[in-house]
Amino acid sequence: MHSCFNDRQLLSQLITGVAMRVYLLLLIVVFFIGCGTPPLPPDGTAEGTGENTKPVGEIRVVISGDTRGWIMPCGCTANQSGGLLRRGSYVQQLSDQSTVVVADCGGAAEGTAPYQQSRFRAILLGEKQMGLEAHNLGASEVALGADTLKQLSEETGVIFVSANIRTKDGKQFVPTHQLIQKNGQRLLITGVCSPSLIEDSELFASAPGDAILDVLKDAGGKFDRLIVLAWLPVDELRHLAETLPEADAVVGGPTGQSLPPEMIGNVLLTSSANKGKFIACLTVPQESSQSISAQVVEMSPSFSDDETQKANLDAFRAMLASRDFTAAESGFVPSNTTGLSSATNIAGTDSCRECHDDACSGWDKSGHSHAWERLVSQQAAVDPYCQQCHTTGYGLSGGFASVKDSMNRTNVGCESCHGPSAEHVSDHRRKTPVDAIGSCIRCHDHENSPHFEFAGYWEKIRHE
Ligand code: HEC
Ligand code: HEC
Ligand code: HEC
Ligand code: HEC
Repeated sequence: MHSCFNDRQLLSQLITGVAMRVYLLLLIVVFFIGCGTPPLPPDGTAEGTGENTKPVGEIRVVISGDTRGWIMPCGCTANQSGGLLRRGSYVQQLSDQSTVVVADCGGAAEGTAPYQQSRFRAILLGEKQMGLEAHNLGASEVALGADTLKQLSEETGVIFVSANIRTKDGKQFVPTHQLIQKNGQRLLITGVCSPSLIEDSELFASAPGDAILDVLKDAGGKFDRLIVLAWLPVDELRHLAETLPEADAVVGGPTGQSLPPEMIGNVLLTSSANKGKFIACLTVPQESSQSISAQVVEMSPSFSDDETQKANLDAFRAMLASRDFTAAESGFVPSNTTGLSSATNIAGTDSCRECHDDACSGWDKSGHSHAWERLVSQQAAVDPYCQQCHTTGYGLSGGFASVKDSMNRTNVGCESCHGPSAEHVSDHRRKTPVDAIGSCIRCHDHENSPHFEFAGYWEKIRHE
């Protein structure tokens, strides 16, 4: 997992030397036009009012990726980036000034459990509301299988694309590409996913480069620009950009950190990364002899919350409230319980009180005994993603299972750190099962508790 610190060390807007020159040139061109009579809309523009202020013939392509279920920052620590609410207002701001195309290079889902699928569905709905034209199949999408993807596409209106993903018997089940005509330009957007990133799937990935060449053959040259959404590891991403001069841009993930935009020959290479916190924005000039340039924009708290996306998030949470997914349906149990034995049951914090009065009164004063309230105040208590760290024994026998059944297991109780202790409660000669010191980082990870260090934190909640 990558720390947000490293993310922030990246300048929020990265421009390569080459891209910078093109960009400056463009600015000068726009400036000159701007000095004369207002530019006329070129042929083929569908947009009405306001178009006059948008650069003639130029298109901005916003490409998100690697969202990994991160529909919004969790709010456990200040200044986290990402989230659809900010992405929505970024796209809106850009649309006020430019002709915008929205796409996603994949990795938006996280897991295949029922809760995780419903969250992916909410992300797709949000993307659709931003005007998304094509969503590439990355590894986490591929893991869902053809039937689920087809159903999600029908329900949300999102169009998945993939040049190289087929069913095992060779059937194509999503379009290989989309041809988008805007502002007098024809953009061909296709996508690929690396065979090396696919595990255990009913689906099959052919060689990305060959699959793209097949798409080009079918398209018969009837486009001005080729943009490839590429879910490939960094080395394969680079290799694709080096070996596919037909492309104008290759935009990928998962690269951990975003790749600063870079020209490889005439091909622009960049990536969107890290839970959708960094999003690539391409500038596609009208003149197809001019290269595409790009910026990587951080979805920082400086972007306001978009109202449409807020409504989408509210609808998602309303669904969560009525559905009340159990821990078993969340997909989070294995990762959250690593190191915790479930040989015995969670007994609950109240069962420790009669013998450990001091430890309990110390706990009552700590933030751990109020962890659930934090979720309630964020309208997030219905969300299993948040529940996993703000409850006791999430998914363990006797631990938190669902809102309906487990309100006595909310908050970070004694057994969140000492492990399931029912046996110890009935016979205190039997030790509690877990090394409590090692338990902190299950929850205090880089994302949720970037300043965590044991000594200082332990001092605040010390008890014997
Ligand atoms: C991986 C574990 C984990 C998950 C998942 C998680 N939290 Fe937290 N949360 C923490 C930890 C640890 C802290 C305490 C951080 C610290 O003080 O360093 C915290 C703190 C908080 C706080 C208090 C922040 C403050 O400034 O006092 C809020 C609010 C919060 N979380 C909300 C949420 C919400 C909402 C979600 C789901 C979207 C969520 N958390 C998911 C572990 C988690
Ligand atoms: C019936 C009384 C009793 C209850 C109930 C009880 N304990 Fe204990 N606990 C003890 C005694 C006595 C010791 C000291 C045992 C020893 O030193 O051999 C102890 C020791 C411990 C220790 C330190 C030794 C070890 O096992 O690692 C921890 C931690 C602990 N208890 C946690 C808990 C938790 C958590 C609960 C509630 C789930 C709980 N206890 C409930 C009586 C109790
Ligand atoms: C946030 C994690 C955490 C929570 C919550 C927590 N503890 Fe602890 N507890 C620890 C750690 C860490 C130690 C120190 C263990 C050590 O030194 O090996 C400890 C020590 C103890 C000890 C002394 C153990 C010994 O060897 O002397 C007892 C008893 C105990 N806790 C009981 C409780 C009880 C009862 C609760 C709930 C009211 C509770 N703890 C909540 C982390 C936690
Ligand atoms: C099951 C998840 C979980 C585990 C395990 C956990 N924490 Fe926390 N911790 C949280 C959450 C959630 C919060 C935020 C609660 C709040 O303050 O609102 C938090 C907050 C804190 C805080 C700030 C609140 C306060 O009372 O000062 C400290 C300090 C802390 N944890 C220390 C620890 C230490 C030390 C450990 C390990 C011994 C530990 N935690 C283990 C989830 C966890």
